[in-house]
Amino acid sequence: MNIAHSSAATLDASAGVPRYSRAQIVLHWLIALGIIAMLGIGLYMVGLPKGLAFKSSLINFHKSLGMTVFLLVLIRIVVRLVAGRPPLPPMQAWQRAAASMTQGLLYVAMIFMPLTGYLGSSFNKFGTHFWGIPLPMWGWDDPGLRKILFALHTVSAWVLIALIVLHVAGALKHQLIDRDRLMERMLP
Ligand code: HEM
Ligand code: HEM
Repeated sequence: MNIAHSSAATLDASAGVPRYSRAQIVLHWLIALGIIAMLGIGLYMVGLPKGLAFKSSLINFHKSLGMTVFLLVLIRIVVRLVAGRPPLPPMQAWQRAAASMTQGLLYVAMIFMPLTGYLGSSFNKFGTHFWGIPLPMWGWDDPGLRKILFALHTVSAWVLIALIVLHVAGALKHQLIDRDRLMERMLP
C-alpha cells in the first residue's frame, strides 16, 4: 500500500520526539485493542458447541465489533493519507524496509479480515447485523463459497497474528535495545 511519508505530524517540543498526530495515536490503540479482542473472541467462539445460544450471541457480537473495527481502519487510512507519518529516527535501510513492509501488510490484513468475514457471512442465510441493524447481503446461501471465504478468514487471522508478533517485537527492540524512543511516537 502506498501510504506517503510526510512531515505533517506534530513535534513534541519538550522532548524533541516527532510523534504521530493525536488522532492517529487514538486510532492506533483503539484498533489494536479491538483487533486483539476480535482474534480472541473469534478463536474462542468457533470451538463452542453448535446450537448453543451463547455461541450465536458471540458470533453476532464478533460481527458487530468487526465491522466497527473495519470502519475505524477506513478512517485511520484516510487520516494517515492526509497527515502522513513523522520522520523515522536513523536506522539501517533493511530495518526501515522491514518496518514499512510489516506495517503495510498490517493494513492489508486489517482490511482483508473484516471483508472476508462480512462476505463469508453474506453467503449464509444469517447475514450480518451491525449492532442490530441488518447490513446488505452480497451473496446467497452457498456453503461452498462460504467455506472458501471463511478458510481465507482463518488463514489471514494467523497471518495477522504473526504480523502483530513481528510488529510488537520490533517496537520492543527499539524501546529496550536501540533505546531510540521510537515508542514515544505512538504513545499518548
Ligand atoms: C493489533 C495490534 C496492532 C496493530 C494492528 C498495529 C498496527 C500498526 C500500524 C499499521 C502502524 C503504522 C502506522 C502508520 O505509519 O500508519 C503501527 C505503528 C506503530 N505501532 Fe502498532 N499495531 C498494533 C499493536 C501495537 C503494540 C502492542 C505496540 C507496542 C508494543 C505497537 C507499537 C507501535 C509503534 C511504536 C508504532 C510507530 C512506529 C513508527 O514510529 O513508525 N503497536 N502499528
Ligand atoms: C478485525 C476483524 C476480524 C478479526 C481479527 C476476526 C477474527 C476471527 C477469527 C480468529 C476467527 C476464528 C477462525 C477459526 O479459527 O476458524 C473468526 C471467525 C469468524 N468470523 Fe471473524 N474476524 C474479524 C472480522 C469479522 C467480521 C467483520 C465478520 C462478519 C461480519 C466476521 C465473521 C466471522 C464468522 C462468522 C466466523 C466463524 C467462521 C466459521 O464458522 O468458520 N469476522 N474471525
